[in-house]
Amino acid sequence: MKFFIDTASLKEIQEAQDIGVLDGVTTNPSLMAKEGIAGKDNVMRHYKAICEIVDGDVSAEVISTKYEEMINEGEELAEIDEQIVVKIPMIKDGIKAIKYFSERGIKTNCTLVFSPGQALLAAKAGATYVSPFVGRLDDISTDGMTLIEDIRLIYDNYGYETQILAASVRHPMHIIQCAKIGADVMTGPLSAILALLNHPLTDSGLAKFLADHAKVNQK
Ligand code: E4P
Repeated sequence: MKFFIDTASLKEIQEAQDIGVLDGVTTNPSLMAKEGIAGKDNVMRHYKAICEIVDGDVSAEVISTKYEEMINEGEELAEIDEQIVVKIPMIKDGIKAIKYFSERGIKTNCTLVFSPGQALLAAKAGATYVSPFVGRLDDISTDGMTLIEDIRLIYDNYGYETQILAASVRHPMHIIQCAKIGADVMTGPLSAILALLNHPLTDSGLAKFLADHAKVNQK
């Protein structure tokens, strides 16, 4: 399973990249706003800076919701770097735009997906990635992981190549569950990735190893 980090923070992206397990980045307008990135030139520069840190795909979301505007905006985003994936919302004009980009070899990420039917449409339009939001479904007492399972089943039934990018991942168990189901990618915050490191038996075991070593190596 590929690991993407869901942030626009260059510091966090660099930290994840330095660990050596990062496969890509997803951003959204809220995450860009959180970093105070405003104005077209700054936004473009920021995406370029992200592409210079990571080797993999970087999702950059369009703000437009009308077909022609999404095409123009997406084409500009795609020109920033070959790593850019144009992130497009799951709306009718968005599906049309995904079809347009897929026919031209421009990678897309269909975002804000909350149902198997939406995921099926994204795959039929040729999306490179589909982003089901597991955490936001959990937030409304609906099992987000069931959606990942349903999409996996549907895509496998028909051999769709669209990659399931489990999004709105909030904690390490989301990551484990995504891996068990067979999501192609998960995107989450740095905190969820780092939390995978933790186990109290690792900490106590390491402390004992180091203490035993120190006992016989004291001057
Ligand atoms: C998807 O790509 C989104 O950026 C993201 O995963 C949303 O996560 P949130 O529900 O934690 O905001």
